[in-house]
Amino acid sequence: MRKKFVAGNWKMNKTIAGSITLASELVRKIGSHEPPCTVAIAPTFIALDSVREVIKKSPIKLAAQNCHFEDDGAFTGEISASMLKAVGCEYVILGHSERRQYFGETNEIINKKVKKVLSEGLSVILCVGETLNERESGITEKVVEAQVRGALNGISESQMQHITIAYEPVWAIGTGKTATPEQAEAVHLFIRNLIGSLYSDSVAERLLIQYGGSVKGSNAKELFQMPNIDGALVGGASLKVDEFYQIIQSTI
Ligand code: 13P
Repeated sequence: MRKKFVAGNWKMNKTIAGSITLASELVRKIGSHEPPCTVAIAPTFIALDSVREVIKKSPIKLAAQNCHFEDDGAFTGEISASMLKAVGCEYVILGHSERRQYFGETNEIINKKVKKVLSEGLSVILCVGETLNERESGITEKVVEAQVRGALNGISESQMQHITIAYEPVWAIGTGKTATPEQAEAVHLFIRNLIGSLYSDSVAERLLIQYGGSVKGSNAKELFQMPNIDGALVGGASLKVDEFYQIIQSTI
C-alpha cells in the first residue's frame, strides 16, 4: 500500500510574513496528530528559512519550487540544491510546466537538475503533463513519455525511491478545469507501466504519482479513489488552509 503524498506549491505568492502566517495556520490545523498522508509545502525561496522554523515540530515537510543544476558560481539569481539542503528542504519540485513554458526548461535541463538534487540526498517531485493542444492532437502519452524518459535519463533503480512524479495536465493548472478522475487515472497508469518497463515492477509499484491541476477540497476525494492516484500537487488551493486541509483529509 502506497502512503499518499499531498504537497502545496505556493508558486510566487506570499511575502515572508504572509508565508509564516499561512504555515502557522496549517500547523495549528493539523495539530499534533499524524496526518493521514505525507504533507509538504513549497514556499518561495526567501520564505524557506522562516517557514522551516514554523513547521519544525510538525510533520509538515519543506519543499522548494526549483533549483539550479550547478553547485555554486556565477549564476546570477539562481539557488543550488546544496543551499536548499542547508535551509532544511527535503523535496525539490522540478520540471513544473510554468518553468518549462516561461523559463525555457527542457527535458535535458530538468535531467541535470534531477541528478543534482538526488546527489544532495534530497527528493524530487518531477512534474510532467501535456498542453491542451497536445491532448487534442492525441499525443498525450507521447509527450508524457518523452518528459519522463528525458528527466530520468541515467537515474538508477535505487535512486527511484527518491522520485515522485506529478502528472499535471497544463490545461488543468489554475483554470478550474480538473481532469476527470478517469482521465487522470489513465495517464497515471500509463506512467506506472512506463516506469515498470524502464526499471522493474517493484519500482513501478512503489512509485508515488501525484495529480496536479485545479485540485480542491471538493474534488480531491474522487481523484484519490483511483488506484493509481497517490496524492496531489496543489497550487491555488494550498494557499487556503481549510481547502488544503480538506485535501489532506481526503486521502483517508
Ligand atoms: P492549481 O492547483 O492552482 O491548478 O495549480 C496546480 C499546480 O501547478 C501545482 O504545481
